This record gives sequence, C-alpha cells and structure tokens, in this order.
Amino acid sequence: MAPPDPLLAASLGAIARDIDSLFDALLPAGATGVLAQAMRHAAIGGGKRLRPLLLTATAAMYGVDRTQALRAGTAIEAIHAYSLVHDDLPCMDDDDLRHGKPTVHKAFGEAMAVLVGDALQAFAFEVIADPATSGDPFVRAELVEVLARGAGAGGMVGGQALDITAEGAALGMREITRLQQLKTGALLGAAVEMGAVMGKVASEGRSHLRGYARDIGLAFQIADDLLDHQGDAAKAGKALRKDAAAGKATFVGLMGAERAREQAQMLVDQAIAQLASHGNEADVLRALARYIVERDH
Ligand code: IPE
Ligand code: IPE
Ligand code: MG
Ligand code: MG
Ligand code: MG
Repeated sequence: MAPPDPLLAASLGAIARDIDSLFDALLPAGATGVLAQAMRHAAIGGGKRLRPLLLTATAAMYGVDRTQALRAGTAIEAIHAYSLVHDDLPCMDDDDLRHGKPTVHKAFGEAMAVLVGDALQAFAFEVIADPATSGDPFVRAELVEVLARGAGAGGMVGGQALDITAEGAALGMREITRLQQLKTGALLGAAVEMGAVMGKVASEGRSHLRGYARDIGLAFQIADDLLDHQGDAAKAGKALRKDAAAGKATFVGLMGAERAREQAQMLVDQAIAQLASHGNEADVLRALARYIVERDH
C-alpha cells in the first residue's frame, strides 16, 4: 500500500533518494575493502528512512538548511542501520533477510557484521561532529549528546538488552512499554529532538515534540509487532511470524492484535494532538504519525 497522503509520499521518496546519495558520498568506497563493501550493503538501498524524515521534517519547521539537516539524518540512520545489523545476528534474532537482501552476516560473515555495526556507529558521530553539519559548535555538541543518549544503554541498546533478557518471560504492560520505549522510541525521539536542536528551539519549547515522539515511538513498535503477527513478508523484506515463537515481549502477545491495533491508533491520535500549536508546517509530522500504523512494511 502506497502512503495515501501525497505530501508524505513525496517526502518519503525525497528522503530515500537523499539519504542514499549522502551515504554513497560519505561512506568509504574502495571496491576491494570488505568492510567498506559491507557497510554500504547495510546502509544503502533499503529502509523507509523514517528517522531521517522525522529529523528533517522537524528541522524544516524551524527553517533549518536541508543540506545540513540531511547530514544529521544520515548520522541517525547510520545508528539505525547498525542496530539492525546487530539485531539480525545469530546471537540476537538470527535473521537471514533484511530489506529484501541477505543480512550482513549472511553476506559477509559474523565477525564482519559486528565490525560493520561498530564502524557505522563511529561514522554517525564523525558526521555530526563535522562543521558541515552545523557551523555552531554548541549545536554540534548537543547533537552528539542527544544521539548518544538515544543510542546507548539508556536508549536503543538498553531496550535491546531488555528485549533479549525478556524472551520467554511474562512481562506486564508497564514493562513492555518501557522495553519498547527504549528499543524503538528512544531513537525516534532523538530524531525529532535533533531536528529541534538544529532549529535552536530551547529545551523547554520542545516538550510537545517530545510528547509527539513518545506517542509515535510506541505506536511504531506496536505496528512492527502487528506486521510480524499478520503482515506480508514479501512486502516487509524480512522474515515475519517469529516473535511469538521466540517468546518476544510484545503488546500483540499481551493484549491480542485487535486491542494492540486500537492502542496504536489511540497513540497516533494523541501524537497528532500534541502538534495542535502548529499550523501546516507540521503536516509532514502529522501524516507520518498516521502512516506509522497504516504501513504494510
Ligand atoms: C525496524 O525499523 C526495526 C525497529 C526498530 C522496529 P524500521 O521499520 O524503521 O526499519 P527500516 O525502515 O526497514 O529501516
Ligand atoms: C529491533 O526490533 C529494534 C532495533 C533494532 C533497535 P525488532 O527485532 O522487532 O526489529 P525487526 O522486526 O527485526 O525489524
Ligand atoms: Mg530484535
Ligand atoms: Mg529483529
Ligand atoms: Mg520486529
């Protein structure tokens, strides 16, 4: 299903093209370097690029130069790509297919997949620390801080750790919410926050954006879990129907698909309500919130 909203369809198309070409320009090339080849395999030519879209759409609301916002978007997407390379490893979710291609460890071996993740993480910080991303050193330092917090033990990696230790455990609503907020919500939240940092929005002026990000973050992971439960693997470009057998802690497992979908829809409505103080400059963020639960991949 193509996104029904024409503004969002155009934004998704543009961000996919722009992020691919920036990765192509910034990642090491070298036809013979296996690491370089494997990094490009992980980063180029796949993925919805939702984190860069969140970042650039937020930055655009505050008049940030698109070329600079795209660099920060490439950095956060590098963290996301690394998280997927490691998530797919045999010691984690053990997946063979990602974005319709063999996973990095299938194509290049496990040791190289670990190193690709490590290198993509360093690459991300190299890109945002570069003055080409922002001429203002305070902005660059805050971007580093926000991205590090979203990626690390108090964010995505912490959530992945909970996800692994929770396998087979009977978690309640509160624990699953916390797990998912960390593993998925933290990086989506960092994307929105980085856009606001580039727009020089003061911290206290960002609370509605944080609320929006928190709501879509949870809705996003519920949608991912619903796709695992009832989606089409060919469209998703990854194996599905795995969470239940692996004993993953999900809302779908806890409350069933129907109530999980209602919950996700409620969160989307709540996310859109957080943007009430904005006019049509926030339309991409509104459409993106709706797309998060309507998507088929
Ligand atoms: C998948 O994220 C992994 C989760 C955090 C649930 P995306 O759905 O954003 O991955 P892409 O679009 O394939 O990169
Ligand atoms: C992965 O969640 C989240 C991160 C990589 C941080 P999942 O394990 O559910 O993602 P998929 O379903 O493999 O894309
Ligand atoms: Mg996982
Ligand atoms: Mg996985
Ligand atoms: Mg999943």
